[in-house]
Amino acid sequence: MLKIAIQKSGRLYEDSINLLKECGIELNNGNKQLKSGAYNFPLEVYFFRDDDIPQYVQDGVADIGIVGENVLLEKAKDIEQVYRLGFGRCRLSIAVPKNMQYQTIADLNGLKIATAYSSLLQNFLLEKNVDAEIHEISGSVEIAPGIGLADVICDLVSSGSTLFTNGLKEVEVVLRSEAVLAINKSLSEEKKNILSKLLLRINAVKTAKNNKYIILNAPNDQLKNIAAVLPGMKSPTIVPLAEAGWSSVQSVVNENVFWEVIEKLKELGAQGILVVPIEKMIV
Ligand code: PRP
Ligand code: ZN
Repeated sequence: MLKIAIQKSGRLYEDSINLLKECGIELNNGNKQLKSGAYNFPLEVYFFRDDDIPQYVQDGVADIGIVGENVLLEKAKDIEQVYRLGFGRCRLSIAVPKNMQYQTIADLNGLKIATAYSSLLQNFLLEKNVDAEIHEISGSVEIAPGIGLADVICDLVSSGSTLFTNGLKEVEVVLRSEAVLAINKSLSEEKKNILSKLLLRINAVKTAKNNKYIILNAPNDQLKNIAAVLPGMKSPTIVPLAEAGWSSVQSVVNENVFWEVIEKLKELGAQGILVVPIEKMIV
């Protein structure tokens, strides 16, 4: 059995469970328990505080863990490998009371900054030549200025609503982060084997999300040009239509170039363009 650690509650919990679900892995229990087995995959899921996950993965309490890159970098553990998961995007930022006059980073000199990320913040301040006092606290950082515990804060920002509700504004980005898969350094062959099966599924889900399946009708005299803007998995599938002079073209288009491709297809006379989400994509 492969042991995976995920966040017990917080920003990454829901997306982590969803990722497993999309990989076809259903859990027996929710996060009310410390751990849960899976019905149909040799996986045991542990629910931990995100801050503890790097240590547990390093020590082999868990074999792998889904955790924010921010937490992983802050804890600087000896961990094999990280694999970006493409969700849980956020920023580690410095935020100040919204009515504070803030012009440049030098305005932070002499201030007291509350944070749960003292090591990342310290490196940032050193790099920017700022001399400020770091006050480490482990939770509810956003209320620190309001109760006189610090002048400003350095914390994670995702939607920005926590800052807004607490009368703070974001002024400097220390780090951009997303959820990653952290992997223990010395997995047994058997566990490596299960991990590679899991990674195949994760990849299939991730790739599918970044791609769309499109089906369109193309005039035959433009087929060559249309095929040229549609790479597909190998090349587009082209099938003649019952109506003379027209063909049906099917292909996979990457999200990054999606609208660009659609515009070109329209210019080349494509009609009846259907865009279909892909559930899994194994390349
Ligand atoms: C972070 C951070 C803020 C919140 C910001 O918490 O500490 O409280 O997310 O999100 P927002 O900009 O969308 O309001 P996290 O989920 O990492 O939980 P934790 O700090 O309790 O580990
Ligand atoms: Zn946390």
